[in-house]
Amino acid sequence: MKPVPDGFEDLHEENRKYWDSVVDVHFSSKFYEVDAWIKAGMKARPWEAEVIGRLDNKNVVHLQCHFGKDTLSLLSLGAAFVTGIDYSEKAIQKAKELATATKLNGRSNFEVCAVEDVPKHFSPSKFDFAYISLGAICWIPEITTWAGAISHLLKDKASIFIHEVHPLAQILVRSENGWSLDGKYFESKEAMIDQSEGSYTENSENLGNFRTNLWNHSIGEVVSSLSNFGFVVNHLAEHPWTSFQQFPEMIKSGPERYFLPDDWLQVPLSFTIVASRG
Ligand SMILES: C[S@@+](CC[C@H](N)C(=O)[O-])C[C@H]1O[C@@H](n2cnc3c(N)ncnc32)[C@H](O)[C@@H]1O
Repeated sequence: MKPVPDGFEDLHEENRKYWDSVVDVHFSSKFYEVDAWIKAGMKARPWEAEVIGRLDNKNVVHLQCHFGKDTLSLLSLGAAFVTGIDYSEKAIQKAKELATATKLNGRSNFEVCAVEDVPKHFSPSKFDFAYISLGAICWIPEITTWAGAISHLLKDKASIFIHEVHPLAQILVRSENGWSLDGKYFESKEAMIDQSEGSYTENSENLGNFRTNLWNHSIGEVVSSLSNFGFVVNHLAEHPWTSFQQFPEMIKSGPERYFLPDDWLQVPLSFTIVASRG
């Protein structure tokens, strides 16, 4: 297992500082609706609950857990214990506060750790189930490192749920001249650089300008990376919707579900994988 590959350390650190900077703003955003989620009983998203099924008595890990809302939601599916991992100290601090505020701290743990450091930080084969959600794998330069971290954490008999931004959506650009693709569909050592104001939450405009560094991974690369560690794909769905307003004209249809207008280009915007081994 490789740590952060040589030459990527500065980009990694730049990204980590970005994530530290956005935690408080994300926590109080309408996008994350933390208060409403608490009032509704800290539940998992109904559609995710349907795809994942029950997690009764399972020891669950959430990689790149941000401030832990999705991590704690997995307890509503019956998980015995959930562990969230993220390299942002601020995110993990906030996750611990959220666990205490919701009285779920007895069934959860949050650890500061980069995906690339998982094999050093965690003993192997601890978990039954791994959860990864939207906006995670684009921060990892080499998808095999990510799959290796999951493999290390999981027992021989275990399963994984991933809902992610589709690699095509990562490079889809809308301009006055119509649609184009800008960037790399396939994994590349060269990062795609994003220089923008704020983040994806509605309240982030005063955060300032950030440069972040992203890496795309094709669907084939994601599936192959998992299969190289013995996982078999049980479910793979490409969705014509995503959970955030990627383009201003997108149409919201239900909670966290944004579609392109019918008369626009129709391409996959997010994807779901369930895979298992053993
Ligand atoms: C968009 S969040 C994804 C989680 C979830 N979809 C959410 O919105 O709560 C991305 C998270 O990945 C974390 N992250 C990025 N690169 C990482 C790495 N190499 N190791 C561990 N965490 C990482 C960031 O700190 C951030 O909290």
